[in-house]
Amino acid sequence: MFYPFEMEQYLETLLGDRDPLLREMEDQALHETIPVVTPTVGNFLNLLVSMGKSQAILEIGTAIGYSTIWLARAAVITGGHVTTIDMNKDRRARALIYFERAGIQNRVTALEGDARKILPKLESRFDFVFIDAAKGEYLEYLNLIYPLISPGGLLVVDNVLFRGWVVPGSDFAPKYDRMVNGLRQFLEDLCQNPDFTTTVLPFGDGVSVSKRQKNVVRKTLLD
Ligand SMILES: C[S@@+](CC[C@H](N)C(=O)[O-])C[C@H]1O[C@@H](n2cnc3c(N)ncnc32)[C@H](O)[C@@H]1O
Repeated sequence: MFYPFEMEQYLETLLGDRDPLLREMEDQALHETIPVVTPTVGNFLNLLVSMGKSQAILEIGTAIGYSTIWLARAAVITGGHVTTIDMNKDRRARALIYFERAGIQNRVTALEGDARKILPKLESRFDFVFIDAAKGEYLEYLNLIYPLISPGGLLVVDNVLFRGWVVPGSDFAPKYDRMVNGLRQFLEDLCQNPDFTTTVLPFGDGVSVSKRQKNVVRKTLLD
């Protein structure tokens, strides 16, 4: 947390009470140190999907399905569907049970495997994409999802400020150099891409929100 922990706690109190299932998942994630989105980010994802009336939603990084449930609950309102990808078989299996318990199993397709292998095989387009998987792979995901985002679609990425260390001048252990530099490069590429309008929000672990232009300039990042 790179801003006062009290602020995230305060923002959480403003959300009101969450249902017991989400609370249970938050406890599980904390207990097992599974890095799920904060409740404020979950709520934000839910709000964005319903505000944008998104239909075809893609998530990279299911874990036990916490953020997926926030997304899928908005999809119930928009009439949309969430496709979510994770390479961890055990976590996916647990997510499927949570989806049943949340009653949103018909709104979700959970794919198992490495997103870098699955994404090139996807044929449909998505009007909402959420990236929350391996931070060291964000640049790769960006290249692969680029052709999959509909004109006018939204791209939301979690952890882009990674404990605030992405901000130049931050103090962190050398073992994080690669990850931090990768995230800086990722944000630069995203913010300078003429096909996207991007803003970076400093809550949770840093969240970027990008809207793809209606008139697409490039078909791939390398054009
Ligand atoms: C931060 S957790 C996702 C948390 C989840 N979005 C939430 O907030 O509830 C990241 C997940 O990404 C998965 N992951 C990492 N690299 C991946 C890859 N290349 N392809 C698919 N899944 C990946 C991990 O197995 C892990 O469960």
